[in-house]
Amino acid sequence: MKRSLIDILDLSPAEIDELIATANDIIANPAKYAEKCRGKKLATLFFEPSTRTRLSFEAAMYELGGNVLGFSEAQSSSAAKGESVSDTAKTVSCYADIIAMRHPKEGAPFVASRAASIPVINAGDGGHNHPTQTLTDLLTISREKGRIDGLTVGFCGDLKFGRTVHSLIGALSRYKNVKIVLISPTELKVPEYVLQEVLEKNGIDFEQTTDLQKALPNLDILYMTRVQRERFFNEEDYLRLKDSYILTPAKLKNAKQDLCIMHPLPRVNEISVEIDDDPRACYFKQVLYGKYVRMALIMKLLEVE
Ligand code: CP
Repeated sequence: MKRSLIDILDLSPAEIDELIATANDIIANPAKYAEKCRGKKLATLFFEPSTRTRLSFEAAMYELGGNVLGFSEAQSSSAAKGESVSDTAKTVSCYADIIAMRHPKEGAPFVASRAASIPVINAGDGGHNHPTQTLTDLLTISREKGRIDGLTVGFCGDLKFGRTVHSLIGALSRYKNVKIVLISPTELKVPEYVLQEVLEKNGIDFEQTTDLQKALPNLDILYMTRVQRERFFNEEDYLRLKDSYILTPAKLKNAKQDLCIMHPLPRVNEISVEIDDDPRACYFKQVLYGKYVRMALIMKLLEVE
């Protein structure tokens, strides 16, 4: 039966462990995987801009020996003429073996998965979810820290619209003794459903604060995020909030020596470029790991041995 990935919780913890293990094996033995998807096609249907997600999916499929087709903006597809997501998904099912879809509307990849006859991967839907970024983040955390259980993870910035934050909190809520610190301006706090349905329901130890400096010394992971301009209703609010947190070397003075600084990217202004040379900066490693975990996911959904 065809299997899609719409929400990170579609995968069991054991399946996530298995994907992380496969990604680690790909990193160690890339040649072993070079022909795994020979003859298979990935369609990348991106109705919203992307650099990392689309290109890492494409690089992943090429490195598995497969091929790629697709579009990178809605305007160059028949969506511009009014075609529905369902009809697009049915059409692409005639040409490809698997779809990676990004869409500004929450739930669009789910709708596509219902219509498609091939697996659909949610490559980010509105402010909702971004499960393959979460797989990337979990692989990064496990490689950098050697574990996921027992860590204190701080999320900082736009926790309201940041879909990567919502997905990763959901995933972390299934690990043991994880503590979550939510650092944001009051206007950009995590949505109530994440607080109630994920954190409170799963009995996760969490706190909310506006003060990054105060929270920093206790963190094992600092997950910085961009203020999501494209999801704001007015420019004035964006301009007021966009520089709420700017991480600089001086601000890291009281942070742990083995802190892992993550960011799903793109970065705008929230991490000073001077931090890129700090050994604690992990965000470009994250970019690379994203390709390997997407290779693992494509193989899993295509049921490649
Ligand atoms: N992290 C991420 O989703 O980046 P892109 O928007 O460049 O794909």
